[in-house]
Amino acid sequence: MQCILMNKNIEVLTIEYDTATSVFTRIYEVKNINYAPYILNSFYIEDDINDTPFRTNLSEWFKGRGIPSWRDKLDLLLHRLNITAPYELLDKAFGLSLSDQYWLKPVGSNISYDDINFFDNDFDYAEFMEASLSTNSKIITKESSLKTPNNTTDGMLKKAWIIEDGTRYLLKGGYKNEVLQPFNEVLASEICKRLGFDHVEYTIDIYKDMVVSKCPCFITKDTEFITCYQIRNDMKRYNNVEDYEEYIKKLEENNIKNAREKVENMYILDYLIMNEDRHLNNFGVIRDVNTLKWIDVAPIFDNGQSLNIEYYDEDEVHISGSGRLFYEEKPFDEIIKVVKNLKRIDISKLDGVVEWFDDLLHKYQYLTKMSDNRINRLCILLNRQIDKLRELILKNS
Ligand SMILES: Nc1ncnc2c1ncn2[C@@H]1O[C@H](COP(=O)(O)OP(=O)(O)O)[C@@H](O)[C@H]1O
Ligand SMILES: [Mg+2]
Repeated sequence: MQCILMNKNIEVLTIEYDTATSVFTRIYEVKNINYAPYILNSFYIEDDINDTPFRTNLSEWFKGRGIPSWRDKLDLLLHRLNITAPYELLDKAFGLSLSDQYWLKPVGSNISYDDINFFDNDFDYAEFMEASLSTNSKIITKESSLKTPNNTTDGMLKKAWIIEDGTRYLLKGGYKNEVLQPFNEVLASEICKRLGFDHVEYTIDIYKDMVVSKCPCFITKDTEFITCYQIRNDMKRYNNVEDYEEYIKKLEENNIKNAREKVENMYILDYLIMNEDRHLNNFGVIRDVNTLKWIDVAPIFDNGQSLNIEYYDEDEVHISGSGRLFYEEKPFDEIIKVVKNLKRIDISKLDGVVEWFDDLLHKYQYLTKMSDNRINRLCILLNRQIDKLRELILKNS
């Protein structure tokens, strides 16, 4: 299929797309290369573009928009959607997403972005939501159920975009039978709110007796989310703390205000809740798709893989996990050292947050069946991290 890669209303490339393999087999014309997905910047060479890594990386990028092979219970989802691989979904809704504005426009068609984008146009999410989140679901029956932004979501957790009162929300379940993740998301929001960190607001929602987290879309029709993974592609790599410094430099070069402070905030949160999942697709920046200006660091999101207790006994809580700092896995006590200014944190704002979390976990115990003992240990752990941060702040002042 000959088509045009679009970024909202701007034509980026004219290309041949092979629907059977979801590969771009030929690039016919480069129209506005600046509007191409950010990750492709470093692959672009003006000479014969077809013989460079640009074309293969374009295919990789597009395939990467699909549901990943490591999605929890992917086999069940594919069965329920009646397809054999996630990439089959990619061209069902022009490859549109709710995290950016790229899409494929068939050559010769007069489809307009306004008519098809999922920010303005409602989509039929009920069947996909059931196929994705329910333990028991039938095979979908409506073709319209495959024309949704759910075709282009990343991440390991079962999830679904839904619409409520015109707002687009992402629902996320727990990994396998774990029930803690949605609560960690809500805890992270509460901590961020109290400390004044820019964040995505997660709440608890119940879907068929299952606790899920729910957050609004942080992208608009005029913006796109660019992950740190994409940005680091044209950065020098050190495999040590210099990667972090380079990233901040890059944000500052692109005129993001208080970049260091905002990135520090994310690592402070990760320290408090011991988040093990801060890989490079779980943070990044928001860019204006019209002007290509970097607007801001993306609000903090995806904090579910936290407070992981290996096991606990009478008098100890055992932790084995570690945090992530770019290409390294490190103890949380090491990562927090990248934060230059801890004095600005008013830790008293977290007074009562442990009790608040305790209440929250108890409130949904009738659904989660989480034991009193486990709730108690989770609260001990959270309390311990808050105390440790308080001590670090004192030492720093
Ligand atoms: N609120 C949101 N608005 C827009 N895009 C989002 C939002 N939340 C997540 N995303 C996008 O979806 C991807 C997967 O979501 P994430 O919360 O990271 O799920 P997982 O826990 O499975 O990794 C993110 O990497 C991001 O690109
Ligand atoms: Mg994620």
